[in-house]
Amino acid sequence: MARPLKVRDFAPETDSFLQEVITGLRKPVREIPSKFLYDERGSRLFDEITRLDEYYPTRTEIMILQRYIGEIVECIGHGSMLIEYGSGSSEKTRILLNHLPDLAAYVPIDISKEHLTRSAQDIAEKYPHLEVLPVAADYNDSSFRLPSSSKTVSHRVVYYPGSTIGNFHPPEAVAFLRRIAFLCGSGGGLLLGVDLKKDPAILHDAYNDRDGVTAEFNLNLLKRINDELDCDFQLDQWRHRAIYNKEAGRIEMHVVSLCKQAVHLNGAVIEFEEGDSIWTESSYKYTVEEFDTIAARGGFEVEKVWTDPEDLFSVQYLTTSMT
Ligand code: AVJ
Repeated sequence: MARPLKVRDFAPETDSFLQEVITGLRKPVREIPSKFLYDERGSRLFDEITRLDEYYPTRTEIMILQRYIGEIVECIGHGSMLIEYGSGSSEKTRILLNHLPDLAAYVPIDISKEHLTRSAQDIAEKYPHLEVLPVAADYNDSSFRLPSSSKTVSHRVVYYPGSTIGNFHPPEAVAFLRRIAFLCGSGGGLLLGVDLKKDPAILHDAYNDRDGVTAEFNLNLLKRINDELDCDFQLDQWRHRAIYNKEAGRIEMHVVSLCKQAVHLNGAVIEFEEGDSIWTESSYKYTVEEFDTIAARGGFEVEKVWTDPEDLFSVQYLTTSMT
């Protein structure tokens, strides 16, 4: 049993959760930021999603990683600090770690502190020679600071798998990339999972699985709001909806009100008609060319793109193009 890891904690307070939910529900198109889907139960449900038949991204990304691991570690290079955004259970990371014996440090960053603590501890036990420096933070806000490694860091590489970049609207994805480019500095890299445009029927099934796990994951957001904030969503009066918006190139996930109802949140009353919805997530899909443009605007150059034989998903290595 390795000694307990020290987790640097920049995790946001309940206050900001409440504020962001209130702000979102006051918008003309009601929405709640998708990062809040990942509480303890939400993270578990998401792990379950990744194992569903219909949900192709995870297994495809893993397949790409395994197949091209040699080229990938060559891109990453020697002596880097590997910083993982939204590390969750770090499953894909293990593939990298198995092939990167000379990392200066591994820095998993996750908003869910419990999840992070457990999986970072796990990694530290399986890789006793690796310096694991977990950070509990919302990687969207730049107020967290990177821990320093006891070894010499030749360059920084951010790992952002799963196509979570797709949760941002394109202008925000660009701004987000710029922050990563700044954090990495010159010589920095970004290993990224980017989901690709494809037959909408495949996309539809991936977000409307027959077992209803995605529905459960989506509705868990309302349960979380009830549990953590002073709120009374009637969970059986809402349903899951996920549609592919072809014009925008994104899957949209919503919770839809099944009746006319009122919800009380921290003293405020919010009214919903039957059919009203709250937008809970966007998941943008790109062509390789489209993403190239996003990367360039974000201060990166796409150095390498790996895909599966069906072109469902891509893994890309970007380097900072700043001088
Ligand atoms: C983790 C954001 C990549 O968009 O596919 C899965 C989340 N939402 N099913 C995605 C998700 C519904 C997932 N990301």
